[in-house]
Amino acid sequence: MASLARSASQAVRAASRRAPHVLATVKPAQTASFSVLARASAVKAAQRSTPQGTRGVKTLDFAGTKEVVYERSDWPLAKLQDYFKNDTLALIGYGSQGHGQGLNARDNGLNVIVGVRKGGESWKQAIEDGWVPGETLFPIEEAIQKGTIIMNLLSDAAQSQTWPTIAPLITKGKTLYFSHGFSVVFKDDTHVVPPSDVDVILVAPKGSGRTVRTLFKEGRGINSSIAVWQDVSGKAKEKAIALGVAVGSGYLYETTFEKEVYSDLYGERGVLMGGIQGLFLAQYQVLRKNGHSPSEAFNETVEEATQSLYPLIGEKGMDYMFNACSTTARRGALDWAPIFEKANVPIFEQLYESVRNGTETRKSLEFNGRSTYREDLNKELEVINNQEIWRAGKVVRSLRPDYKPDSE
Ligand SMILES: NC(=O)c1ccc[n+]([C@@H]2O[C@H](COP(=O)([O-])OP(=O)(O)OC[C@H]3O[C@@H](n4cnc5c(N)ncnc54)[C@H](OP(=O)(O)O)[C@@H]3O)[C@@H](O)[C@H]2O)c1
Repeated sequence: MASLARSASQAVRAASRRAPHVLATVKPAQTASFSVLARASAVKAAQRSTPQGTRGVKTLDFAGTKEVVYERSDWPLAKLQDYFKNDTLALIGYGSQGHGQGLNARDNGLNVIVGVRKGGESWKQAIEDGWVPGETLFPIEEAIQKGTIIMNLLSDAAQSQTWPTIAPLITKGKTLYFSHGFSVVFKDDTHVVPPSDVDVILVAPKGSGRTVRTLFKEGRGINSSIAVWQDVSGKAKEKAIALGVAVGSGYLYETTFEKEVYSDLYGERGVLMGGIQGLFLAQYQVLRKNGHSPSEAFNETVEEATQSLYPLIGEKGMDYMFNACSTTARRGALDWAPIFEKANVPIFEQLYESVRNGTETRKSLEFNGRSTYREDLNKELEVINNQEIWRAGKVVRSLRPDYKPDSE
C-alpha cells in the first residue's frame, strides 16, 4: 500500500495546492489529550495554510462528463465544529484509517472517542497517540454506546465477525459510517444489515490512512468518495460531506456504496497491485530467459518505471510521458499498447465479474477471518520477497544516491 499511498499523494498534490485548508485553533478542552507531535503539526499546518480556497466550484467537467465535487472550503472549521457540536464520533477500530481519520477529526476540534479491543495492538497504539483510557478510549461496545456517529473502521473481516455484538447497540438516531462499501453491499456474505432507523453513510479516502494523516498535517487533503446507503434523517448526504472534511479530505466525489466497493476491489486486484506485480514479473522472466542479467532485467522493468516514467504519468499524463521518451521508444509503445490492451481486457472483465458476484469478497472474508491470517499472509508475502526480481531490486535500490541502509 505504500506505493498506493504515494500515488494518491501525488494525485491530490496539485488540487490541494489550489485550495489550502485553514485549520482553526483547537478546542481547549481537547488539547490535553493531544500528543505533542500532533498538536505541533496541526499548528504548523495552520500557519502554512492561507485563507484562500473559496472557489465554490461544484460541478466539474471530467472529460465530457459533468460531476459534482464537494470541497473542504465549503466547511470552514467554525462551521464544522458547530455542525458536530452535539455529536460524539465513536471511531471503532484503530488501524491505518482509524489512526489517520481519528487524529484529523480530533485536530479539527471535534469530540472523538476510540473503541478497540482492550489490550490489543490497537489499544496500545491509541494510547501512544494520546487517547486516554476511560476518557477518549474505550472497549468497542462502550464506545458505541457513547457515540452518536459510529465510524466502523474495523478490518472488513472483523466488521462481519463483530456485527452480531455491535448491531443491537446501533440504536435509533445514531449514524453508521463506513470507509468501504464492502460490509453492507455484500450483506449475503457478511450478514451486516444496518438497522432501518439509522443513517448509513460512507467516506472512503482514496489512499492509505497514513496518507490521510500526512496530507492533513501538511495543510492539504486527500480525495475521498462519499455515498449514502440509507437516509433516515434527510441529512445523510450533508453529514457524509461534513464528516469527509472532518476526517481530512480535500475533495469529495459522490458515488454509491456498490460503485465504491466494486471499483476499489477491482483496482487493487488490477493495476494498483495484483496486475502490476504480474506484469512486472512476466516481463522480468522473459528477459532472464533470454540471457539478460538480473540487474538489467530489473532496471528495465521496475527501476525505470517507478523512478523515471511513472512519476511523469502522475505529473502530466500518459501522452506527456510518451513525449518525454525517444522517438524509437514512442513508436514501439504506440504499436504495442493496443496489443496489451486486447490481451488484458478479457482478464479485467473476468476480474470485474469476480468482484461483482461476490467471489472476491468471500475469499477475503475466509482468509482474513482466520485466526492465523497474519501468519498466513506473511508466508505469501515472503514468497514475493524471495522472488529473484525483488531480491535484485534490493541491490539496485542500495545504489540510489538517497539510499538509507536501514530503510529495507
Ligand atoms: N487501509 C486503507 O488503505 C484503506 C483505505 C480506504 C478504506 N479502507 C477501509 O477502512 C476500514 C478500516 O481499514 P484499515 O486498513 O484501517 O483497518 P485494518 O488495519 O484492516 O483493521 C484494523 C482494526 O481492526 C481491528 N480488528 C481486527 N480483527 C478484529 C476482531 N476480530 N475484533 C475486534 N477488532 C478487530 C484491529 O484491532 P486489534 O489491533 O485489536 O487487532 C484494528 O483496530 C476498512 O473498511 C477498509 O476497507 C482502508
